Amino acid sequence: MAHQRILIIGAGGQVGTELTEALRARYGGENVVATDINPNAALAATGPYEILNVLDKDRLEALIDQYRIDTIYHLAALLSATGEKNPALAWDLNCNGLLNVLNLMRDKKLSRLFWPSTIAVFGPHTPRQNTPQFCVMDPNTMYGLTKLAGERLCEYYFNKYGVDVRSLRYPGLIGWKAEPGGGTTDYAVHIFYDAIRTGNYTCFLKGDTALPMMHMEDAIKATIDLMHADGEKLSIRSSYNLSGMSFTPEELTIEIQKLIPGFSMDYAPDYRQAIADSWPASIDDSTARKDWGWQPTYDLEGLTRNMMENIRIKIEGIHTA
Ligand code: SER
Repeated sequence: MAHQRILIIGAGGQVGTELTEALRARYGGENVVATDINPNAALAATGPYEILNVLDKDRLEALIDQYRIDTIYHLAALLSATGEKNPALAWDLNCNGLLNVLNLMRDKKLSRLFWPSTIAVFGPHTPRQNTPQFCVMDPNTMYGLTKLAGERLCEYYFNKYGVDVRSLRYPGLIGWKAEPGGGTTDYAVHIFYDAIRTGNYTCFLKGDTALPMMHMEDAIKATIDLMHADGEKLSIRSSYNLSGMSFTPEELTIEIQKLIPGFSMDYAPDYRQAIADSWPASIDDSTARKDWGWQPTYDLEGLTRNMMENIRIKIEGIHTA
């Protein structure tokens, strides 16, 4: 059976940490090679671990050969906020990193590639509510425009070279196992740590900023389901719209206050407000539902409860260690 020998690029990140765990549980640790630009003792403890900068094509090729890889999950990227701080690196990593992977997929005839896109591919002229799969896309962040270029590359490599590439436009992802890095939606993770530790959080977005969000467990499930879907049923080879829920910082505050009644929120919007304002408030993912049966599990209440419970255990564990 195909996809037994997996390479994960960017395994130490917010998505990679949880995806590596899920894939190792499914396929066995030895069949899932985790790679990242930084060392990671936790990932090295459960299976093969290698340092990899995806811009180093020779090293990437050597690892594919060494481990007889047939399936790649390429997650390494600079996100929206970090991308604005270092646009040149965001362009290089996000575009040339993907090109390296696509070229090796083609040249070595590997079986399947997952590459994540994002709600950041949309822009100020995109319809903001229930953003459709196909519409005006005029991203104005370096992150968004590199991901839109990446979507076009993926579809091109599928049509022209038959590379079996599959992709999702992730919304803001919220999980308790790994912290996010450099995104505009990160407040929705940090808020839980501060709520438990201090009872107060200062949000870098305005209270009424609605954004599409999703629990990490749902994102991992969507990713694995899409990678196992019948290729014949997939009508989208650029990237699927994917939706979990939408909420504002004010709405999240109300949910948290149900569990921590004294919790208070302050607002100090910064440069990330303009990024959020250029993105959709909610997403129409009917094509994903129709093509491969996508359905999210978590709503805002369930997400808040789950995050609070697990981060509490994590923090108390850290304190007593
Ligand atoms: N979570 C991402 C970010 O905020 C969006 O894809 O950059």
